[in-house]
Amino acid sequence: MSFRRALVPSLLALTALAAVPALAQEPAPTPAEPAAAAPASAGPHFGDAKAGEAKAAVCGACHGMDGNPADKQYPKLAGQNEAYIARQLELFKTQKRQNPIMLGFASALSAQDMHDVGAFFATTSALPGVADDALVARGQALYRGGDAQLGVPACMACHGPDGRGMAGAGFPQLAGQWTDYVATKMKDWKAGTSWGDDANAKIMPAIVAKLSEADINAVASYVEGLHTAGAGTTAAAK
Ligand code: HEC
Ligand code: HEC
Repeated sequence: MSFRRALVPSLLALTALAAVPALAQEPAPTPAEPAAAAPASAGPHFGDAKAGEAKAAVCGACHGMDGNPADKQYPKLAGQNEAYIARQLELFKTQKRQNPIMLGFASALSAQDMHDVGAFFATTSALPGVADDALVARGQALYRGGDAQLGVPACMACHGPDGRGMAGAGFPQLAGQWTDYVATKMKDWKAGTSWGDDANAKIMPAIVAKLSEADINAVASYVEGLHTAGAGTTAAAK
């Protein structure tokens, strides 16, 4: 029998870890400087969360009204940063990231709409998921420390110690994301799928190329269990 649990990282430990200098073997491009107020690429578009809430109504059927879908075949958008959401919508619209369903929905959106819905989902919170206990040790090691032998950097260098990502750099939140979705994305990149050829799009394919399927499954399970439960919150562990 395999126990599943939610991972509530100790804030104190995280602070200590975050202070450790980033791994030496990080591949270029390196994590961006401290988050700026808005992504450089955002130009004149700044999301309006209120306008975005109305525009996101159509998304709720699959992603959930607050970005927490009931069905695991749709990724969680809750708590995801505006820059990342707007970027993905643009990638779907231009078919650099290929998905027939999202091509349709993204095509209906202007650049301003993309930022507005992004700003709205950024105000919501991802429901915590669960990690498989049998995979936690390897998943945690990779997430927090990478693997020097394989030349794999720590995921948390870019996705944050708590999995919240880096909004200013457009690095996505991973915390709470469905294991199957995360593992599928990673396996797709390993098999040659790409989301374009700019700096951000080149990072993940280079990393997953060095990971085995077992490592991908372990770290994917770990990130689903990552979350930041504040004091007094009840973790929805199953
Ligand atoms: C009919 C179902 C459906 C609807 C409605 C829908 N989506 Fe999606 N969405 C998907 C699926 C499926 C994926 C996963 C695509 C993939 O695997 O690459 C996705 C992926 C995404 C992603 C990428 C998430 C990530 O973590 O990289 C974003 C952003 C997104 N959708 C935003 C939206 C927005 C905004 C709307 C409304 C305007 C919307 N979606 C409406 C099905 C839907
Ligand atoms: C150097 C920075 C960096 C490191 C290290 C890194 N990532 Fe990423 N990751 C990114 C960026 C940037 C994106 C978004 C790519 C884009 O928008 O084209 C991303 C996207 C992802 C996604 C897709 C998220 C979604 O919602 O679809 C997953 C899954 C992911 N990374 C997992 C990992 C894992 C697991 C590790 C550690 C083994 C890792 N990443 C290490 C920068 C990084």
